[in-house]
Amino acid sequence: MHYQQIIIIFMLVVIVGVALWQLMMIVTSLFGLYLMSTNRGAIRAILSNIDIRKGQIFLDLGCGNAQNLIVASKQFGLQGIGIEIFFVQYLVAKLNVWLSGESKNIRIYLGDFRNFSELIKKADIIYLYQRQVLLEKIESELFCQAKKGSEIVCLSSYFVDHRPAKSFRVRNVYTDASVRVYKV
Ligand SMILES: C[S@@+](CC[C@H](N)C(=O)[O-])C[C@H]1O[C@@H](n2cnc3c(N)ncnc32)[C@H](O)[C@@H]1O
Repeated sequence: MHYQQIIIIFMLVVIVGVALWQLMMIVTSLFGLYLMSTNRGAIRAILSNIDIRKGQIFLDLGCGNAQNLIVASKQFGLQGIGIEIFFVQYLVAKLNVWLSGESKNIRIYLGDFRNFSELIKKADIIYLYQRQVLLEKIESELFCQAKKGSEIVCLSSYFVDHRPAKSFRVRNVYTDASVRVYKV
């Protein structure tokens, strides 16, 4: 095959890949899902700024590609639990955890996190990067279920009936985003 044909095929593959990803974002957003990720630098900054102890349970409600859990486990010695409703993201999360070699320390569950109260009750740190409207819907139930002394950490969105114990900003993707830490 000619060298120019290889470049054209490569570019087509990249363009189709990006288009499919964008399409998936649009389709999932029609179902109320929001597929942005916390980048590694941001989750590192967040975990460095909150009270954590090795071995504690870090629960990511809507864990996406599981990168937060991998950073939490590898760099902070936390046990990770992720719950993801979107099957493609669930598979990506399982694959990423396996590739990271952290399978012993991280569990990923498929489903709506509102049906996993037993896991919420066990968690020491609950992380949410979700739409504002979803946070407002789950606020009272989540605070009832979370164990006393645990922390709920929200990126960008916030709870309306609780005051954060701490707030700070991190750089996520290309913008500054606020982080709010609530003590239960
Ligand atoms: C903005 S992404 C955040 C992903 C990851 N937590 C992060 O910070 O990189 C939100 C994720 O939550 C998932 N999600 C939304 N609602 C959910 C629900 N009720 N139960 C479980 N996962 C949910 C979405 O499919 C999406 O992967």
